[in-house]
Amino acid sequence: MSDDSLPSPPGARTGARTAAVIPAAGRGVRLGPGAPKALRALNGTPMLIHAVRAMAASRAVSLVIVVAPPDGTAEVKTLLDAHALPERTDFLVVPGGETRQESVRLGLDALPPGIDIVLVHDAARPLVPVDTVDSVIEAVRDGAPAVVPALPLADTVKQVEQGGAAGEPEPVVATPDRSLLRAVQTPQGFDRETLLRAHEVVTGNVTDDASMVEQLGLRVVVVPGHEEAFKVTRPLDLVLAEAVLARRRLNDGF
Ligand code: C5P
Repeated sequence: MSDDSLPSPPGARTGARTAAVIPAAGRGVRLGPGAPKALRALNGTPMLIHAVRAMAASRAVSLVIVVAPPDGTAEVKTLLDAHALPERTDFLVVPGGETRQESVRLGLDALPPGIDIVLVHDAARPLVPVDTVDSVIEAVRDGAPAVVPALPLADTVKQVEQGGAAGEPEPVVATPDRSLLRAVQTPQGFDRETLLRAHEVVTGNVTDDASMVEQLGLRVVVVPGHEEAFKVTRPLDLVLAEAVLARRRLNDGF
């Protein structure tokens, strides 16, 4: 945590208030048939509740805005009421949109005045540790307009030719230098005005919010992510997530 007796670097935001927007309106088709992904249970508790708790675990986060499936807003409100959440954190639920980008924008529309830093966190990353959340917030406080947690890649990555027929072998066109690549996670952290401007100005399909800030020509920095911040996408990820929860319970009675 920052030492108030030290001079702040230029652009640093001291005493900034932080909100987290959690897009949770996706269907999660890759996980197989069933409830919307965010509402699937991990060890008996919906993934979304784990994700909300992960954000609220940071003492810096004073508000969590959940972007719910449009037909599931009431259900999500009921869920939040039914689960123990920290008293110091406020919660809002808003209906989501057709794409992740639209859902995030609808969450941003609900931001009250007085919030200076915004985290955007996928409901599909329920197990991100609080230290990762805090280090993202800290880097924004220190003056970065956009911060992403990320990990080096374990696999070598190949770029393939565009437009190949499904199921056919795909010609490789390049092998990017793996040491310069990072696999990006959430929460991504932003100076509020920067993120609002990115969502106003940038159109087109994007898969994360930081890339919108990159398109504005602003500096985006990477801080270390965490292996437990993985995205629950496919059925095997559910098995891994439950194993992580079981290990935490053994280690610290969580
Ligand atoms: O589909 P993907 O795994 O990239 O989704 C990432 C996050 O965006 C998930 O938490 C999902 O619920 C959310 N999302 C959303 N609205 C959509 C599509 C995805 O809130 N229309």
